[in-house]
Amino acid sequence: MQLAVFSARLYDRRFLEEARARGAGPAGLQCRYFDAALAPETAALAMGCEAVCVFVNDRLDAPTLQALAQGGVRAVLLRCAGFNQLDVAEAARLGLFVARVPAYAPEAVAEHALALIMTLNRNTHRAYNRVREGNFALDGLLGVTLHGKTVGIVGTGQIGMATARILHGMGCVVLGCDPAPSPAFAALGTMVPLDALLQRADIVSLHCPLTDATRHLIDAAALARMRPGAMLVNTSRGALVDTAAVITALKSRHLGHLAIDVYEQEGALFFQDRSGDIIEDDQFQRLMTFPNVLVTGHQGFFTVEALREISQVTLANLRDFATGTTCAHQIGTHPRS
Ligand code: NAI
Repeated sequence: MQLAVFSARLYDRRFLEEARARGAGPAGLQCRYFDAALAPETAALAMGCEAVCVFVNDRLDAPTLQALAQGGVRAVLLRCAGFNQLDVAEAARLGLFVARVPAYAPEAVAEHALALIMTLNRNTHRAYNRVREGNFALDGLLGVTLHGKTVGIVGTGQIGMATARILHGMGCVVLGCDPAPSPAFAALGTMVPLDALLQRADIVSLHCPLTDATRHLIDAAALARMRPGAMLVNTSRGALVDTAAVITALKSRHLGHLAIDVYEQEGALFFQDRSGDIIEDDQFQRLMTFPNVLVTGHQGFFTVEALREISQVTLANLRDFATGTTCAHQIGTHPRS
């Protein structure tokens, strides 16, 4: 079987090949790695492959899925948890097998959320540069003690729970909101409606999936409900936040800090070296001008353990497809006829 791996970086190749060497995946598997992202224009690269493997910013809309199916692709393997980029109905109509990696070290993303909070609060990113230049002045580095502060976790699934465990351990008061709350959350904090969470939290951390219902969950009205000077952290999906509204809230000084690992228009920027280019995204460039904004390029998942798990489960999903075994990580239905 041939597998076309899109948006393949060196680390994707390394961990997929390691998983293959450990015997993961169907017998006789051959991987073809492509730097390009999957889109209708690049779908032809998968010609002759029965399966494709994609990441968060590859397109899986109707035109792309149709192009893949026409080229002979029968299985789509997402090497990520979120599948907001997938047209589920079209995939089912085309009879495509689609599977994802629902959980791979939720702690990796939770720890990154913590790193963002700690960096932005204590200005360690600025201190690092200052000290290297021989500037030991503390002005501008003042933070707050997190112990005793109130943190709101929006989405108490696997990553939200891991984040809540860390912050609870640090002595924060933890609030959560989730339409399907985990009973285990009660040991860590209190469930409240979103509005109450926004009104009470010093730090709001987003861990819910991107759906039609959660798109721009944090808009101008939600930002207005947040405490003046509060911190907003998004390690989930960029479009949970209305970027224009966030810029307005930062300019008015109502929003105190913004830390994001994901960005609404990240597809054109993230996972690439654009350091020699002129970035045309004015909203992104405006965000870069605020001293109280910290952006990382979707690296929450980026740990050895998580990449190992992603590769192992991705190839196990492909083996399930190849052998006709029921796949626990399948999205939608797969008419195998
Ligand atoms: P999960 O499915 O375990 O948890 C998501 C939770 O959000 C569920 O409990 C669900 O009920 C809740 N939810 C749904 N709608 C909500 C709403 N309107 N308000 C509040 N809660 C809501 O998912 P998991 O594994 O915790 O991942 C969460 C998200 O993190 C993923 O959807 C993905 O977008 C993102 N992610 C980001 C990564 C990164 O590298 N930055 C890596 C992996 C995931």
